[in-house]
Amino acid sequence: THTTVGIIGAGPAGLLLARLLHNSGIDCVVLESRDRPYAENRQRAGILEQGTVDVLRDCGAGERMDREGLVHEGIELRFDRRTHRVDFPALTGGRRVMVYAQTEVVKDLVRLQLADGAPLLFEAQAHSVTGADTARPTVHYAHQGRPKTLTCEYVVGCDGFHGVTRDALPSAVRRSYERTYPYSWLGILADVPPSCDELIYAHSPRGFALHSMRSASVSRLYLQVPNGTDVAQWSDERIWDELGQRFATDSGWKLERGPITAKAVLPMRSHVTEPMQYGRVFLAGDAAHIVPPTGAKGLNLAVSDVVVLGRALAHWHATGSRELLDAYTDTCLRRVWRAEHFSYVMTSMLHVDPQQTAFDTRLQLAQLERIATSRAVAAELAENYTGLPFDSPA
Ligand code: FAD
Ligand code: DHB
Repeated sequence: THTTVGIIGAGPAGLLLARLLHNSGIDCVVLESRDRPYAENRQRAGILEQGTVDVLRDCGAGERMDREGLVHEGIELRFDRRTHRVDFPALTGGRRVMVYAQTEVVKDLVRLQLADGAPLLFEAQAHSVTGADTARPTVHYAHQGRPKTLTCEYVVGCDGFHGVTRDALPSAVRRSYERTYPYSWLGILADVPPSCDELIYAHSPRGFALHSMRSASVSRLYLQVPNGTDVAQWSDERIWDELGQRFATDSGWKLERGPITAKAVLPMRSHVTEPMQYGRVFLAGDAAHIVPPTGAKGLNLAVSDVVVLGRALAHWHATGSRELLDAYTDTCLRRVWRAEHFSYVMTSMLHVDPQQTAFDTRLQLAQLERIATSRAVAAELAENYTGLPFDSPA
């Protein structure tokens, strides 16, 4: 078969790109290696920037998000057994974020795609992409076990960090920048109303903890654990005890407990591949870059990449000009590196490095204190967290 744009991966990046292309009258095929229930239920991010919310609304995927999502106007930083609130609208001229899980974004986009969009094939695993520098880049894949090929005008790799599209960029042109962190997160979902109205990012001598939520009755919490941690060593009681200690304040704040329904350990890394394109092959989202989750940027960066690419493909389709396509890498990388920096700063300010000295801890507390007392420094956090406008050159 042949299509205009072959999209590999049905995560947020691939699905949103398919929707944007559909709205511009460009045909495409989406290949996803997993089955639909797996793709729709993989627990991941929970925070949508203002710009992400606007894009989902504008492309017709915002209806349930607007009904069920929770608008948040700030976060709490907890350190030194006290709490400081960062007020987003006051510090950013009115910007907010939305708590709406990635699982739900994916479900909404899958439903739209299957209802009126281009073909979306589950259990279709890409093995390789060839001919990046020819007029007919080709995806070699297996659909429900049978070998197939898809020839395209353009191929977009939205296949995540472990995808295959990145290998279509010759090693002579490809550079990667990477950092790993000496800790991981243990993430849980629990059937208990959140113990807070807004997310809490906690710095404590025992390590980082984050209180997030999925709804008025489901809480999502994370705690810093050593790399290589086996979840089997963390009973429900041990998890709640540890979270309780990390969030503890002098004013007697209380963490509500409930049945834990999911537990997983997540590694943390920063990674950028440059360039994000070669010939007629493009990379978007986690296929091109990874951030540690502390700044809640991963999903939002995937969305901003495909917005840039969707516009560039629409411009090419309407005019025949490759100008915006050629600028894709440069346009995206400004925002990518801004998010890499913010995620790194948030991560290193809030976690306890196993090599950390008392001096390092004092520096972290000095930085947190600075956010609590300087409007300019708090505004820097708030602007990055709520996301810079999609059109600004970062
Ligand atoms: P993905 O969502 O990874 O989608 C890629 C898709 O491609 C997948 O569906 C995959 O099955 C498919 N695929 C892969 N290889 C192939 C192939 N060869 N052929 C066909 N299909 C293929 N961000 C946060 O902000 N907060 C969080 O708490 C958070 N938690 C995370 C937890 C985990 C375990 C992970 C991995 C990521 C987390 N992230 C988090 C990051 C965020 O979820 C990602 O940035 C986001 O999913 C990126 O979207 P994407 O569409 O680029 O990639
Ligand atoms: C969530 C994850 C994050 O990494 C974060 O910074 C905020 C919220 C979440 O899963 O809800």
